[in-house]
Amino acid sequence: MSKPKPFCVFTKDENETVLLAKLLARHINHGDLVLLNGPLGAGKSALVRAMIKSLLNQPDLEVPSPTFLLVLPYQNEKISILHADLYRFEHEEEIEELGLFDNPDAIIFVEWPERVPWLMQKADIIISLQFGPDNRGRQIEIFAPKKPKLIANSIRVITND
Ligand SMILES: Nc1ncnc2c1ncn2[C@@H]1O[C@H](COP(=O)(O)OP(=O)(O)O)[C@@H](O)[C@H]1O
Ligand SMILES: [Mg+2]
Repeated sequence: MSKPKPFCVFTKDENETVLLAKLLARHINHGDLVLLNGPLGAGKSALVRAMIKSLLNQPDLEVPSPTFLLVLPYQNEKISILHADLYRFEHEEEIEELGLFDNPDAIIFVEWPERVPWLMQKADIIISLQFGPDNRGRQIEIFAPKKPKLIANSIRVITND
């Protein structure tokens, strides 16, 4: 069997990133851990915000960046979500105190996961964002080795464009 490959997509503006987020959200299940890498301003929060709104089917939901609080929870009657930003998180051994894994059914989004390197091994989806050649564009790489359909469907959507 061939090794799973990452899927790369270029979004030319935030609207396209939101479209990508909606598509990705369809492949996110209870208990999934989704990591988001990339520099400040790359669009990690923008992507997570759109995925949370889509998962909860609440387009007007406020999803602020959890930079200062580290973790913000969201839920409806069916889905629990945690959105973490570990940018200011310094002590890897204190990760348990954040309660990220208390509910095995919660969907977890983590920005700045490099602060806790072992999260990589647990991840279901790893998304890496980079600035494109202009300020609006972003190069987005999605690696989801356990979700082959996500990659196949993403490719279909993009090539239909
Ligand atoms: N193609 C794009 N995808 C995502 N965000 C974009 C894009 N183009 C411009 N932006 C802007 O870049 C900023 C990304 O900010 P944010 O999501 O907070 O970044 P991060 O969480 O990675 O620090 C937002 O102001 C957003 O409007
Ligand atoms: Mg952010």
